[in-house]
Amino acid sequence: MSRLLIRGGNRLQGEVTIQGAKNSVLPILAATILTGGSVELRRCPRLRDVEASIRILQALGCKAGWRGDVLEVDTAGMSGCDVPDALMREMRSSVIFLGAILARCGEASLTSPGGCELGPRPIDLHLSGLRALGAEIDDTGGTLHCKAAKLTGREIVLGFPSVGATENLMLAACGAEGVTVLSNAAREPEIEDLQGFLNTCGAEITGAGTSTVVIRGGRPLHGGTYTILPDRIAAATYLCGAASAGGEVFLRDAREEHLSAVTAVLREAGCDVTGGSAGIVCRRTGRLTAPRPIRTAPYPGFPTDAQAILMAALLRSRGATVFEENIFENRYRHVDELVRMGADIKTEGKVAVIEGVKELYGAKVRAPDLRGGAALAVAALSAEGETSLTNIKLMDRGYDCIENAFTLLGGNIKRVNY
Ligand code: UD1
Repeated sequence: MSRLLIRGGNRLQGEVTIQGAKNSVLPILAATILTGGSVELRRCPRLRDVEASIRILQALGCKAGWRGDVLEVDTAGMSGCDVPDALMREMRSSVIFLGAILARCGEASLTSPGGCELGPRPIDLHLSGLRALGAEIDDTGGTLHCKAAKLTGREIVLGFPSVGATENLMLAACGAEGVTVLSNAAREPEIEDLQGFLNTCGAEITGAGTSTVVIRGGRPLHGGTYTILPDRIAAATYLCGAASAGGEVFLRDAREEHLSAVTAVLREAGCDVTGGSAGIVCRRTGRLTAPRPIRTAPYPGFPTDAQAILMAALLRSRGATVFEENIFENRYRHVDELVRMGADIKTEGKVAVIEGVKELYGAKVRAPDLRGGAALAVAALSAEGETSLTNIKLMDRGYDCIENAFTLLGGNIKRVNY
């Protein structure tokens, strides 16, 4: 097992190139199933969740392997339509494979993803949308048995703009006869990236990035080469690292247009943030000031995935900051760990109130989830003394070696085995 040892106090200075987006590559790996051909994915991050997706593809009889940061996938020889339970448990978002397998094979069987570290993870919107397209789904006994002799395009109005449901239905709709119109769709940049990949492979999808996505199904798809979008949450992590520790960093390839909810708060708190075509520069010199309340919301609102990380950056700011978490029920598990480091945080239901403190102190802490772990690293960079951060396998789900990125930026952070 490994842990991170982080000694706070170094100002961050330097440049890091932003990895490909975890939340783009996972649905795109599911989408490779629809192509029935050979796909080359560039800027593909090496993440535990990507490795889990590769194992799912291999369990289905597909081929997948690395060439540098290029992932090559060939789904021509796909022979199965059941995802093994152990792989479903490894990654809750594996439900995204359902729409793709169903569209390609006419049947799919996988275990229900259940709850995860962020609380219950219902998939009712995924299932009702797939049923609307003509799938028969038996979800009794913890296993989803799905069959669809034929899928037919139609209009589907999502009750909530769920990212995963929008993606799952886009994938299934590619295999449906006729036109599917998804209304109240999620608008995240990763949905546009999925559209970009599928269209590169011959699909006809428009509207991703807006709340209405139109899929003209039934077109034959083929393989292709595609470059994954830079990861806006990884970029937010390094921005918040600079806001926490001070200094000046350049995040190559980061796109400010995808991060404006985060950069607006950082500017309000006192950071200089400049976005350009090459990336984003963030500079922090004086003490930060608490910004106005931050409420998580579907894109383009403030991302729930950046809530913990921004909180960590604001722990030593002047005044009180209020957070309201509106997407997941159980997303303040980093709070108790931050309090161990000297933070002053009170939570009640959806709300957390942070009173700025003068100092943070290194402590023994444990990553409660992927972004909560990143938040602890961000806080540790500005804490006095050494922090020992365990359970970092959860962070490896979404960061391609977070310690390497922070080391490039001058942070004192190393991974040790124990
Ligand atoms: C995706 C992201 C995750 C991010 C989240 C919200 C991936 C792989 N993961 O997760 O990093 O935190 O978006 O931006 O892209 N819901 C239902 N019924 C459903 C589906 C969702 O009630 O059928 C609820 C969820 O419980 C949650 C909310 O909708 O409260 C948002 O979930 P959703 O947008 O689906 O998130 P994911 O796709 O799981």
